[in-house]
Amino acid sequence: MADNNMSVSTAIAGKKAVYKGRKLRIAIIGCGGIAQAHMAAFKNIDNAEVVAGCDIVQDRLDLMNEKWGIPKEALFRDGTQKPWRAMFKAMKGKIDAVDVCTPNGVHAPAVIDACNAGLHAMTEKPMAMTVKECKDMVAAAKKNKVKLSVGFQRRYQHNSENLAKMRAEGFFGDVMLVKVRACRRRGIPNWGVFGQKDKQGGGPLIDIGVHIIESAMAFLGNPKPVYASAGCWTFLGNKPSTVMSMWPGWDHKTYTVEDFACGQIRFDNGTIMQIEASFADHQKEHDVEDWWAYGTKAGCQWSTSEIYTDQNNMMVNMQPVFMPDSGWDYIFTKKLQNWVDGCLKGTPLGASGEIGLNVQKILCGLYDSAKAGHEVKIAD
Ligand SMILES: NC(=O)c1ccc[n+]([C@@H]2O[C@H](COP(=O)([O-])OP(=O)(O)OC[C@H]3O[C@@H](n4cnc5c(N)ncnc54)[C@H](O)[C@@H]3O)[C@@H](O)[C@H]2O)c1
Repeated sequence: MADNNMSVSTAIAGKKAVYKGRKLRIAIIGCGGIAQAHMAAFKNIDNAEVVAGCDIVQDRLDLMNEKWGIPKEALFRDGTQKPWRAMFKAMKGKIDAVDVCTPNGVHAPAVIDACNAGLHAMTEKPMAMTVKECKDMVAAAKKNKVKLSVGFQRRYQHNSENLAKMRAEGFFGDVMLVKVRACRRRGIPNWGVFGQKDKQGGGPLIDIGVHIIESAMAFLGNPKPVYASAGCWTFLGNKPSTVMSMWPGWDHKTYTVEDFACGQIRFDNGTIMQIEASFADHQKEHDVEDWWAYGTKAGCQWSTSEIYTDQNNMMVNMQPVFMPDSGWDYIFTKKLQNWVDGCLKGTPLGASGEIGLNVQKILCGLYDSAKAGHEVKIAD
């Protein structure tokens, strides 16, 4: 009987059948900040359960036990930089997959070891630090017939999916240019190792630029990048913070990444992508994460789904009046559900290892060009 304050349909919709099918048994590698968002999202996924974890810091493992109820005997730290090896040994036959949430430099070794142990893998973004690492990860997954996915969530937003579908159906005509911006005026992370090039592979371009580049690549249908031209500058992060900002007091002494990167990619189909990414610069806005596309039939802005085109002899701007929520919980659940279903049912992966590899070619092409001081050809 429905509650007096509830409509019958709401009461029915609220009743969720108890899932009794097979669950993917997952171990988390790296139980820090983003792992907490993954843990919350896995709670929304019926056919997944997190059963183990490892880290190099004991506090992080204690949190996994206290907050998420993972048994202490399924949490591993062995004094090495590869605690997953002890976990794989002890949990053999009890885990099916790993979810890698470590700093970027650990993604490749953890994923490759997992694949070679016959485990499916999800790795947080960026896929790794170099193109070679990404190729080795894709090869390891293929050799061991396991699924590999990369933690890009922007592609699962309603606006991303709708605009990508419209482009694929020809609404925008040929897309000539996509302008991509992931720019913070002053937003250098004051935690983790985000300022250390040897551990991360780069700064804002690889850390936040990667999200918006991948979302634009999903819109474009993942074309092949062939030339890169870019510049990178460090002028604030390597000095103490002196102005008021959201994350003051970053570790400027270990800061070796760029503050600001800008550049251009030429794709094999003629499309150009212009990119700007910053942890710190002198722009008007506080924080921008967006892209704009210019097609021969129409253009658009990603964040607003605003569309610019001609109709009945008029230039018109159009915008959806309703867009369902694409918040953090929704997109993290969708990205992890996509991977879990891929592992259990063989359904297509959204951000597969191959997609991650193509995005890495863009990132590394831009860094290579900035280092060389001229345009570079992106190798296959
Ligand atoms: N998808 C997103 O929107 C998003 C957001 C934030 C971070 N990330 C990505 O997630 C990853 C982690 O970022 P974070 O913010 O959680 O950082 P973090 O520093 O909060 O957490 C990283 C964790 O990994 C552990 N770790 C380090 N080396 C390890 C090793 N060798 N073996 C096992 N554990 C190890 C650390 O002790 C820490 O607990 C990065 O690749 C980052 O780019 C993604």
